[in-house]
Amino acid sequence: MTHLKLLICIAAVLTMSCMARDDSQALTAPMGWLSWTRYACETDCKRYPKGCIDEHLYRAQADAMAADGYRELGYNYINIDDCWSEMERDAQTHRLVANKQRFPSGMKALADYVHSKGLKLGIYGDVGPKTCAGYPAQNGVNGSNYFALDAKTFAEWGIDSFKFDGCNEDAHHFDDLFPKMGKALNESGRHILYICEWPYYQFQHKDIKINYQAIADTCHVFRNYNDIWQNWPSIENIINFYGDNYDLFDKHHGPGHFFDPDMVVVGDYGMSHEQSRTQFALWAMFSAPLFLSNDLRDISPEDKKILQNKAIIAVNQDKNAFMAKRANWDQAWAKRVEPKVNGQWSYAILYIDTNGIGEKHYRSHKVSELIPEAKPGTEYVVHDLYLDEGKEILGTLKAADNLELLVKTGGSCRMVKLVPKK
Ligand SMILES: *[C@@H]1O[C@H](CO)[C@@H](O)[C@H](O)[C@H]1NC(C)=O
Ligand SMILES: *[C@@H]1O[C@H](CO)[C@@H](O)[C@H](O)[C@H]1NC(C)=O
Repeated sequence: MTHLKLLICIAAVLTMSCMARDDSQALTAPMGWLSWTRYACETDCKRYPKGCIDEHLYRAQADAMAADGYRELGYNYINIDDCWSEMERDAQTHRLVANKQRFPSGMKALADYVHSKGLKLGIYGDVGPKTCAGYPAQNGVNGSNYFALDAKTFAEWGIDSFKFDGCNEDAHHFDDLFPKMGKALNESGRHILYICEWPYYQFQHKDIKINYQAIADTCHVFRNYNDIWQNWPSIENIINFYGDNYDLFDKHHGPGHFFDPDMVVVGDYGMSHEQSRTQFALWAMFSAPLFLSNDLRDISPEDKKILQNKAIIAVNQDKNAFMAKRANWDQAWAKRVEPKVNGQWSYAILYIDTNGIGEKHYRSHKVSELIPEAKPGTEYVVHDLYLDEGKEILGTLKAADNLELLVKTGGSCRMVKLVPKK
């Protein structure tokens, strides 16, 4: 815990509000897979048998996650997004019903299957009466809602995570509604990871002061910015949003409660190999959830190598879950990580080059500027995290030295870890 966070907590304990979620469900950022960015709301399974929202899709992704080495690295959620249900609730029980054509075996059977692979199943809903794509959601009419009924249904099915979207409802009501759904999930008796889109919709209203403390008390994961797209401009936009707002976000981000810059789109159609490396590196630097939205059945060896880089996953899963800070001179990012050696933290450092023209160039910054707490006598061993998964040592540096790395243009990066010498 940073000193700043500690102070906030001490102050908050007096008012009984220092309760940011830190239960055992997500002490490090959750990892897994989520269908939206790759499959959206494609429901035409005749035309797109391998690319529509149906039980085969989720089973196939679970198969690949378990068989191809992802599960052993920590990826374990298979998360369903919008468009999974019938268009109406069951007339008698008012329960949600999985779409009968596309999920003929039902949700309980899908959860059992995913569990049999050693994985978890997530599902999706919305704080309004309808989801973004118009399917029945959790709110009702005249102040009634289906929060408790649906939480109970999800628990009975064996659901392990729940993404709660914010379409079709006035964001001014979210501070009331999102905690109510959180309570319903809790009272279901099943541990269900709670993924909220709460701050994202509020962010679009200038008159709402977003209560990040309440959000971090309630949700394990919270999305606060635009949907990611499968392309570099979208990613550049998101990373600058995080760079610009570090001081605000860092205070409310930590073990058990994570800001979510949205899905990892490595393995999709829109990015170069270099840009894919940069997205994965940055999400690791943010301690962000790693929900892949791609086709795990069909990943190139190059992309798989990125997604399975142990040294970078370790930066993402660092137990302190610090958020990386962007240096003033732009697109040089630094994050405190383990191990701590003789009282000195290690640091992950990321240089990105977002220029659209030019050849590769050397980027050079003083270690003491990247790591303001670096002591003059400390010697750091520099590991290149994309070369041989961090086993490649580039050299050693002291606070007064420059960390100089050759970086390509167009959204390319270099990522290193500086570990104090014993
Ligand atoms: C909701 O309230 C309105 C106005 O009081 C009423 O006419 C309507 O029947 C109510 N709807 C339901 C489903 O209770
Ligand atoms: C419900 O919340 C309490 C208090 O935070 C927690 O101890 C308990 O584990 C939660 N139960 C479930 C099923 O999430």
